[in-house]
Amino acid sequence: MASHFEQLEQSMDQTPSFDGQVAQLIHLANDNGMTVSFMDIGATWLSCTLPVKGESREILLRSPNMAEHIKQSAYFGSIVGRFANRIALGRFEIEGKQYQVGVNNGENSLHGGIDGFDKRRWAVAEHSANHVVFRLHSADGDQGYPGNLDVSVTYTLTDENALVIGYQASTDKTCPVNLTNHAYFNLAGEGSGAKSLDHQLQLNAEGYLPTDSGLIPSGEIKAVQGTSFDFTQPKNIGSEFLTEPDQKTAGGYDHAFVFEPQVTDGQTVAAILRSPQQDVTMKVKTTKPAVQFYSGNFLAETPGLSKTYELYDGLALETQFFPDGPNKPDWGVNRGVLTPGGSYQHQTVYQFEC
Ligand code: GLA
Repeated sequence: MASHFEQLEQSMDQTPSFDGQVAQLIHLANDNGMTVSFMDIGATWLSCTLPVKGESREILLRSPNMAEHIKQSAYFGSIVGRFANRIALGRFEIEGKQYQVGVNNGENSLHGGIDGFDKRRWAVAEHSANHVVFRLHSADGDQGYPGNLDVSVTYTLTDENALVIGYQASTDKTCPVNLTNHAYFNLAGEGSGAKSLDHQLQLNAEGYLPTDSGLIPSGEIKAVQGTSFDFTQPKNIGSEFLTEPDQKTAGGYDHAFVFEPQVTDGQTVAAILRSPQQDVTMKVKTTKPAVQFYSGNFLAETPGLSKTYELYDGLALETQFFPDGPNKPDWGVNRGVLTPGGSYQHQTVYQFEC
C-alpha cells in the first residue's frame, strides 16, 4: 500500500496546477511521528498527521486531488495575500492615491483578489529535515496593489509537535500586507464526521469586529463580554451558535477576534482548540493582533479528501491584521499597511498535544 506521502504526491501530481505544471511537495516529520506536508502552489500546508492513540490522525481538510484543489474557494491550507480577508469594494486610499484591487467576493475583495497568493507557484528557497522556506515576488501593480513586494514564509516542525510559521515581507511602496495561513482543522480527524461546532475553543480576546452582510467590519471593536463571542473561558463552539444577530449576519462565526496586546508576543498562548473527545489540543501563539475564527460556514459541497464536505466540517483560526484595515484609519498599526523599509516579521505557532 502506498504510504501517506506517496498518496499525497499522487493526488496532487496527476493534474497540472494553475500554471500548467505539476506541484512540488515537501514533507517533514519529527521524532514523535508527527508529519506535515506542503506544496509550492500557494505555499500550502496540505497535511498534518498526529500520532494519537497509536494511530496516525490527519487533522487538516484538503481537496482530494489537484483538479479539485484548483476549483475550490475554501483556500485549504494556503497562504493568502497580499491582503488576507476582505477589503470593502476592493478599494482603498494610500498617501492620497486611490487603488482598486480585484473584486472576487460579492462586491468586495477577498484574500488578495482574483489571482491571490494561494494560486501562485512559490519558489522553494530552502529545505531541510525540519524546515522549508517558500518565497514569492509580487510585482508593482499585481492585482492592483502598489509596490514590489517580496514575501517569504518559513514552516518549521519542532520535536515539541509545533508547526512554526514565520512570515516576512518587504515593499518598495506603501501597501496593504496581511499574510495568513488558511488551514482548516478537524482535531477529531479529517474523516471523523465531527464538526467544528463539537470542538471546544478558548480565545484570549476581549473584543471582536462585528460585520455587515458582506463581512466587512463596521469599524466598532465590540466587547465579547456577555455575548456569544465570549471565548475567554473554554466553550463548545456549538453552545451559542447562531444565537445573536452578529453571528446570523455571517452565517456563524466568521469574525476577527482582537487579542489583548500582551498576548501577541508570540510566546503566550492566544487560542486553545480541543477535539470533541479531548484527545487532541492545539495551542496557538502569534505576533498578529487578531485571529479570524471561521467555523466553516461556506464548506458545504466542497469536494474533500474523505468525502464532499458539509457545513462546519472544519474550522480555521487565521491569525491576521484587522479585515478592511486599509479603510479604517483609526485602527493604527492593526490596519496591516506596510511601508518601504518597514518591518513585516510575524510568527504563528500551532502546537499540538496528543
Ligand atoms: C475566510 C473568510 C470566510 C470565507 C473563507 C473562504 O475565512 O473569512 O468568509 O470566505 O475565507 O471560504
